[in-house]
Amino acid sequence: MITIRPATLADAAAISIVHCSTVDEWRDPYTRQPTDEATLNLFGRWYNGGDWMSVETCAIHLNGLLLHGHLPLVAEANGVLVGEAEYYVNREPAPFGPHLHLSVLYIHKDWQGQGIGRALIEAGVGHARALGCHALTTQPEPEMAGFYQRLDFQPWLRAKEMQTTIGGTSPLLTHLSQNSGPPEHLALRIGRYQCGVQGWETLWPSLAIPELAALRRNVWHGKLDEIPVVLGLREQFRTPTQADGYAWLPPSASLTPVVAALRSLATCEGYSAVDLLLPEDSLPELRTAFKLDYQTTVDLWIKKT
Ligand SMILES: CC(C)(COP(=O)(O)OP(=O)(O)OC[C@H]1O[C@@H](n2cnc3c(N)ncnc32)[C@H](O)[C@@H]1OP(=O)(O)O)[C@@H](O)C(=O)NCCC(=O)NCCS
Repeated sequence: MITIRPATLADAAAISIVHCSTVDEWRDPYTRQPTDEATLNLFGRWYNGGDWMSVETCAIHLNGLLLHGHLPLVAEANGVLVGEAEYYVNREPAPFGPHLHLSVLYIHKDWQGQGIGRALIEAGVGHARALGCHALTTQPEPEMAGFYQRLDFQPWLRAKEMQTTIGGTSPLLTHLSQNSGPPEHLALRIGRYQCGVQGWETLWPSLAIPELAALRRNVWHGKLDEIPVVLGLREQFRTPTQADGYAWLPPSASLTPVVAALRSLATCEGYSAVDLLLPEDSLPELRTAFKLDYQTTVDLWIKKT
């Protein structure tokens, strides 16, 4: 019998086992060659699948979710934990609105294909309704699109990661030195890898594996052309001369001054280029002002609740 319930911190070890069961081959983080799992340290394990690969990092991750009021759910079969889904509660302005973002869904490899993924999504719908959220969103890997179609998700917003060179003079923004929480009343419109609150977590991570904590992160706030903005840059893990850019701003404000500001801030920080995940419909306007080189496409899917 399958039951679904909210996760607690005590589930960290069992959640880690579920995620690790789906790793076919462990790889060394530096050579990227197959390796014996036993040779990997915490960072090496993290590299193979994220925070869930060790109980130590999984517990910190889970603790962060629970402390911030998000919704990790677990599935149990006869009392054994066999699946996990993580829903982030987002309350952003349009077009996103109040919604739950499904960031992670994993079923133990021995339990896949038995309706457990469906049950965790149906439970997410129930929680979304109870929380006044109008939708579930997710960003499926292309090979998982069939599963999400089956569960009545549909493609909604397309974003393209574009690389731009640096340049320009630095805008008059204030450096934010303390984490005051994700900006209220503004939407994450650049750098929306997953959802708004996860963009914030990228800039203010709770996880402190030394290799990741060492990445440079900067956040600024203030006004550009009288528009309130919060901007962030994070050094790329593999290419420390480049940064990823993030921008929160009102839904209808133009992205052009924001992209200009991110380029200038990247210049001041000594980067050679900055990668920006941009809404596809903003590209015609931005291309008239900046040279943008295509990197990859990210699709956000939606299921109305
Ligand atoms: C993808 C995953 C979450 C699906 O969960 P699951 O419990 O195996 O799926 P379910 O048994 O609930 O399947 C629900 C429906 O989707 C269909 N389905 C499952 N996987 C599918 C796929 N890859 N493509 C198309 N349809 C799929 C099933 O046939 C089923 O259809 P039905 O209800 O009409 O019979 C699970 O297989 C998994 O954990 N995979 C590895 C980790 C992963 O890739 N996670 C997703 C990204 S975070």
